[in-house]
Amino acid sequence: MLKKVHLAAGLLATLTIAMFFTVTIVVELFGTHGAVAAAKAMIVLPGLFILVPAIAAAGGSGFVLSKSRQGRLVEAKKKRMPFIAANGLLVLVPCAIVLDRWAAAGTFDMMFYAVQSLELLAGATNLTLMGLNIRDGLTMSGRLRKRTIAAH
Ligand code: HEM
Repeated sequence: MLKKVHLAAGLLATLTIAMFFTVTIVVELFGTHGAVAAAKAMIVLPGLFILVPAIAAAGGSGFVLSKSRQGRLVEAKKKRMPFIAANGLLVLVPCAIVLDRWAAAGTFDMMFYAVQSLELLAGATNLTLMGLNIRDGLTMSGRLRKRTIAAH
């Protein structure tokens, strides 16, 4: 049961960030300022209300699952989690909130694009770290085969 919660929360958190990232790039490239503002509003509500609990649930369930596991993969996952959480709570959440406010007010200045760039960078970093956690998780659960060193 806990494993299912962990799998669902981990995938949901990762897909949510992937969706924010894609929508942001698409509306910035092809959308009007109105479309950008609508996307920014959706990222905050309901977006953050899905993302934050999903990250917390993935981390919390992961630490409980890790009590009965040892080894390099679980250690690597444990080390990545504080960066994922800090990046999410200290960078992605505040960026999403200020970008939403500025976009709603029609303020698309240098600061907007600076914060937008920071948000994309933090998003890409979290996608990478979460992708590695998924890979190591699937390896531990046996759904993905361990990479073996080819003996040539
Ligand atoms: C956002 C962060 C995380 C994501 C996206 C994630 C993702 C996953 C995925 C996809 C699986 C495979 C589940 C399955 O095949 O049923 C898994 C398994 C696992 N994860 Fe995570 N995980 C995250 C954080 C953590 C953390 C912080 C820990 C704690 C060290 C952890 C510990 C585990 C363990 C022990 C398993 C293996 C469960 C088993 O088969 O016994 N995970 N994870």
